[in-house]
Amino acid sequence: MTDFNLIPDRRKNSMFTKWTAYPKDILPMWVADMDFPAPRPILETLHKQIEHGVLGYEMPASTLKETVAARMNALYNWKIKPEAVVTVTGIVSGFSVAARVFASPKRGVAIQTPVYNEFHEIKNNVGVPQIDIPFVKKVNGNVLNYEIDWDLLEQRVKKAGIFLLCNPHNPLGIIFSKKELTRMAEICIRHKVVIVSDEIHSELLLSGNQFTPMAKLGREIEKNTITLVSPSKTFNIPGLFCGFAIIPNPELRARFENEVNHLRLHVGSLGLHAANTAFSGKCDAWLKELRKYLTDNRDFVTGYVSEHMPNVRLTIPDATYLAWLDFTQTEIEGSPYEFFLKNAKVAVSEGKIFGKAGAGHIRLNFGTSRELLKRGLDRMNKALHSI
Ligand SMILES: Cc1ncc(COP(=O)(O)O)c(C=O)c1O
Repeated sequence: MTDFNLIPDRRKNSMFTKWTAYPKDILPMWVADMDFPAPRPILETLHKQIEHGVLGYEMPASTLKETVAARMNALYNWKIKPEAVVTVTGIVSGFSVAARVFASPKRGVAIQTPVYNEFHEIKNNVGVPQIDIPFVKKVNGNVLNYEIDWDLLEQRVKKAGIFLLCNPHNPLGIIFSKKELTRMAEICIRHKVVIVSDEIHSELLLSGNQFTPMAKLGREIEKNTITLVSPSKTFNIPGLFCGFAIIPNPELRARFENEVNHLRLHVGSLGLHAANTAFSGKCDAWLKELRKYLTDNRDFVTGYVSEHMPNVRLTIPDATYLAWLDFTQTEIEGSPYEFFLKNAKVAVSEGKIFGKAGAGHIRLNFGTSRELLKRGLDRMNKALHSI
């Protein structure tokens, strides 16, 4: 049994972004990593590599691709050939490569906003237009739901080279249904738009929810989709930078792989070994416990907000350890991020970085101990009530 209530001091001997970017009196609840140590089998693998003493060059072994293929089969009964797997230095580099290859100044990248801030950087990093497809925000009591405007989606997607999907969605926590995914895919296929499905959060499922990869929904869809997966979020090893692009279509794969090679995007050896152990199944008992803890944390956040912050609205995430809170109906003037940083000494993520509609909202990372989570919420609540 893992006790997720016990977390190490992440400010000690470290350069962790989340814990060192702000002064010591600030409680960080922003960057999307968790405060928990990685599961034992991964740490043992890393120790073994270090004990060897030599940290020379390593190429991704064919066994690693077999491990990824076996995991897709075990999780989703999705049968892919190991050769369909391309190793990438991370998911951000994976979708950046895809944008370089399959988007162009004439046909940009379509994204559903608000969405993960790095999606918004592609236009600058790759130099292709960003095509926003805003969700429709629906309010029910203090619960927020975000829905797809299908006419708008079709209108905008047809101008794109790639449709970059975030599923499960950061920051909204949505797992799209099979019906929604199929409808999105049909639109993309109709307009010859490559689907890039960022599924980095796909194993962080809350309340026993199920997940289906976009590419599993049919052969035609699979042929038109680049799926990005990684053990980094699930097993809390994002600093090791290792991810995978699954591209069953040989033509798309050759073009993608060519660009990866061209850019010399090599993964470090520790990342390769850790990913192999993470996806081997040896850490699945830990993952089961983690999901339970994160589900309880999610429920703690939603319960706390309902009880103490009546004018605050929020999503109920199906997956991830990210909550999306709306302060537009509160007394806060201006950015709630700045308000909480100054008045509560809590650093959350500024809603606007996820898109224009994020103004007045924040993303809160609940991938931490219940004690720290409560401390953060208490401080925010006190600041809110002192206006
Ligand atoms: C949706 C999404 N994609 C990608 C990443 C980052 O991936 P990587 O660190 O592998 O580049 C994150 C991290 O928060 C994310 O939320």
